[in-house]
Amino acid sequence: MLEEQFLDSARHDRQSFKSGVAELDEYLHRFAVQQSKKGISVVRVLIDTEMPKTILGYYSLSAAQIDVVQMDERTQQKLPRYPVPCFRLGRLAVHSSHRGLGLGKLLLGCAVERCLEAKKHVAAYALVVDAKGDDAQSFYKHYGLASCRDNPMTMYLSLVT
Ligand SMILES: CC(C)(COP(=O)(O)OP(=O)(O)OC[C@H]1O[C@@H](n2cnc3c(N)ncnc32)[C@H](O)[C@@H]1OP(=O)(O)O)[C@@H](O)C(=O)NCCC(=O)NCCS
Repeated sequence: MLEEQFLDSARHDRQSFKSGVAELDEYLHRFAVQQSKKGISVVRVLIDTEMPKTILGYYSLSAAQIDVVQMDERTQQKLPRYPVPCFRLGRLAVHSSHRGLGLGKLLLGCAVERCLEAKKHVAAYALVVDAKGDDAQSFYKHYGLASCRDNPMTMYLSLVT
């Protein structure tokens, strides 16, 4: 059974995780545990309960803000003229041996659900992601995320329906 868990250095084997994107692998291998402890990001991993040490994928979330001028004109008209609060999906990756099985979709869905839950307690207008490359950008576009005006690799999804 697939399960989402907080990253835990005592339970999860970070070093064998490979997504094919060096930056995303290095983050999990070297920085994710420290950043979680310091309150910089919350990192959650996806595991199969039959092999609970193996990380199949992960994502990180933190609080952020976005300048409304980065968003499309219709959205801008609805918002105040100063940076609005949001959540940042800093990283999301699936193990390269498990690509194309729906795990990326599952992780993105989990992240959005966490944000919708958190936003009941602390307001946030959007989920912002940093796409690490063209593949990532097209993955997020597939799920309706729009590109920011100044940097198309920074993308956002309104959390307000
Ligand atoms: C991008 C990534 C997360 C996708 O994960 P995945 O598990 O292979 O994707 P899924 O099997 O969940 O695909 C779900 C849907 O997205 C689509 N999809 C997957 N990769 C896509 C891409 N690069 N561009 C467009 N659509 C894509 C699939 O066709 C599928 O569509 P459907 O549900 O309509 O049939 C994964 O390839 C990955 O980890 N890449 C390296 C790291 C990375 O780029 N991370 C993202 C940003 S930091």
